[in-house]
Amino acid sequence: GKVAVLMGGRSAEREISLKSGTAVLEALLRQGVDAQGIDVGERVLEQLSRGQFERAFIALHGRGGEDGVIQGALETLGLPYTGSGVLGSALAMDKLRSKQLWRGMGLPTADFSVLNEGTDLALVVANLGLPLMVKPAREGSSLGMRKVDSIEALRAAYREAMAFDGTVIAEQWLPGAEYTAAILTGRALPLIGLETPRIFYDFEAKYLTDTTRYLCPCGLSEEQAQHLQALALQAFQALGASGWGRVDFRCDAQARPCLLEVNTVPGMTAHSLVPMAAQAAGIEFDQLVLQILESSLE
Ligand code: DAL
Ligand code: MG
Repeated sequence: GKVAVLMGGRSAEREISLKSGTAVLEALLRQGVDAQGIDVGERVLEQLSRGQFERAFIALHGRGGEDGVIQGALETLGLPYTGSGVLGSALAMDKLRSKQLWRGMGLPTADFSVLNEGTDLALVVANLGLPLMVKPAREGSSLGMRKVDSIEALRAAYREAMAFDGTVIAEQWLPGAEYTAAILTGRALPLIGLETPRIFYDFEAKYLTDTTRYLCPCGLSEEQAQHLQALALQAFQALGASGWGRVDFRCDAQARPCLLEVNTVPGMTAHSLVPMAAQAAGIEFDQLVLQILESSLE
């Protein structure tokens, strides 16, 4: 049967998803898999039910594609799909609920507050200190995120983040190093360390500049790396995520790793982090795509 590679969609990460989806589709076709790309729009259910598909490879990033919505539709159609189910996708897309869950389980994540229209920002600053990192709760690729050093900047960043999502959080700023752990069928792949001359690993650092350094091996001791990988798996499983994904970390002032978020459909372009980690584990891009596809049958 044919594989539907779902990509594009209407989220703010549409362009990245088109790149991921195209890379996945090309890898499948190269390996003789009967596959077809679908740019997800209003007619996706019709396309999927008419297309004689056997499974779906979800290469959608952001809301509508990475948050349980398309996963629920695929469940209804009875079509197996790659990656996490409805609940895991929805929880991982939502940084607020992810953090609340991790907190409840004693897993490390930065202190935070939810910001609303009526929030006393001076109180937030009194509680959490400065700087703060302001984020829309359900967005990807660092869109709508800003580091702030004052109450005025916090107010502006709140408005900016609100343009992306109705739920906005302010997190204590983590000054330490950033790491990411790719997860593939129940294990964590080699860690990647991220270094950027920018304020943080933002959209520009992720996709536009060539000044970002990717460290693999990541520079941590074997023991520290294993601790981080174990934490990544715990965080992933805590949200009910499955199949494959990527867990992002940043370290606090004491160099303790804190959980940032789980991505249930991480970037899959030839230059993305999961393919880089897979490569370090001896898994070439084409092989990685097949392994993810096969995990949809588990
Ligand atoms: N949200 C982007 C695609 C990533 O996590 O790689
Ligand atoms: Mg993300």
